[in-house]
Amino acid sequence: MAEHHRARIDFDPRFTVAEVPERLFGSFVEHLGRCVYTGIYEPDHPRANADGLRQDVLDLIGELGPTMIRYPGGNFVSGYRWEDGVGPKADRPRRLDLAWGVTETNQFGLGEFMKFCRTVGVEPNMAVNLGTRGLQEALDLLEYANHPSGTYWSDLRRSHGDEEPYGIKLWCLGNEMDGPWQIGQRTAAEYGRVADQTGRAMRMIDPGLDLVACGSSSRAMPTFGAWEAEVLAQSYESVDYISAHAYYQPQGGDVASFMASAEDMELFIDGVIATADAVGAKLKSDKKIDIAFDEWNVWYQDAWAAGETDERPEPWAVAPRQLEDAYSAMDAVVFGSLLITLLRRCDRVTAACLAQLVNVIAPIMTEPGGPAWRQTTFFPFAEASKWGRGTVLEVSAEAPTFTTAKFGEVAALHSVAVANEDGSVTVFAVNRDLDHPLTVEIDASSLPSLGQVTCSTLTDADPDAKNTLQDQERVAPAANATVAVDGGRISVELPAMSWNTLRITP
Ligand code: AHR
Repeated sequence: MAEHHRARIDFDPRFTVAEVPERLFGSFVEHLGRCVYTGIYEPDHPRANADGLRQDVLDLIGELGPTMIRYPGGNFVSGYRWEDGVGPKADRPRRLDLAWGVTETNQFGLGEFMKFCRTVGVEPNMAVNLGTRGLQEALDLLEYANHPSGTYWSDLRRSHGDEEPYGIKLWCLGNEMDGPWQIGQRTAAEYGRVADQTGRAMRMIDPGLDLVACGSSSRAMPTFGAWEAEVLAQSYESVDYISAHAYYQPQGGDVASFMASAEDMELFIDGVIATADAVGAKLKSDKKIDIAFDEWNVWYQDAWAAGETDERPEPWAVAPRQLEDAYSAMDAVVFGSLLITLLRRCDRVTAACLAQLVNVIAPIMTEPGGPAWRQTTFFPFAEASKWGRGTVLEVSAEAPTFTTAKFGEVAALHSVAVANEDGSVTVFAVNRDLDHPLTVEIDASSLPSLGQVTCSTLTDADPDAKNTLQDQERVAPAANATVAVDGGRISVELPAMSWNTLRITP
């Protein structure tokens, strides 16, 4: 049996980091693969509702608990004509989608997305195309969406059956404009100017908007840092957020570094905040720019880019299988650690989107005409969205370390505590060590009372265990029976490679 390591967590509800922003638990629906078609929207499915939305998927989304959804891309948005997706479905054109090499039928568009958001009860986050299009088309879209009536675009919306304006508050000014893969990629100087002009003009229509400028599409981009500095130097007063995107995978079999992926996310956040604040200081601005971490996940991107997955879409196919990663128990633990980082840094990361929602690198999978099921990554997100609400507390932790090639010595325990509005406290904790269980002592003596203490744990003896069409419930969290309470001290055993949600109710 592997030797148990020991760790310690202290917190005090008087010492806080920040309130958890509502937008922290966002997700992302892109017109990509089967995220929309046969994912959320499948009118012929036996469980489809009157709007063509799959009720089985809606039920799982309700359980997952996203609060906001970004749409319609992603790389897709940089070639998208939003007008193609509104009005009578029979008149909507089929178009080539150059971003993903497929055919877009436009049977799902803005009106359907808004219906979906209302049904699920999430805030919409709409991206405008600053790749093949620009300022005027962004203004047309905003007028269609948010202007009440009496103009060409607002009356067009009303003629399409949506009398009331959509009131979309959160908008992304393009997507990953630094990436050579992006249709209409721009230099930082070019994009900074376009973002500034687009943001300012959009606010002339609707001054209450929250606007996201594109930051770097990963921390590994050669332009990281310089990009943010230039873009924000031009657009600082016209935007509210700068975006960050990060996807993690084991590289070259280095699973120890993969387990510590959150270290990279922390460095990414530090770098963007330092850069944004330096620009603000230089401009003598009182304003702070927050981070919208609007794409994050585990994604086996190298295998996909090298064509090593089973997916072989025909050129210009309609909604083929693309990016349908099946997530393991180990992936879920890394994913949980990324969630812990987002919570720990939610003083400045005030919006985030799990990319994506259904089928495409997603927590929910479906079969056309068939079932829908939860991937391993579903569980950490659902638990964090349910119990990670309230105020993040400062946590002081001591833990043994393990060695990684990318980040040196890394603490095995990664944790955060959240004081929930009902008086309970939730501790999310990951044991990132693949070999050693961890006995964690939690000093909860600062809490007025310790009523019930429970812990739910996701782990698996096989790190590669997955939930699949054939075995949909192979991996799931289970009650952890090792919780012990002694006065104000709690102790619990966290298995090697595990995600844990510990609930302390008064
Ligand atoms: O989420 C998949 C893709 O990853 C998005 O379309 C793009 O923005 C990113 O590179």
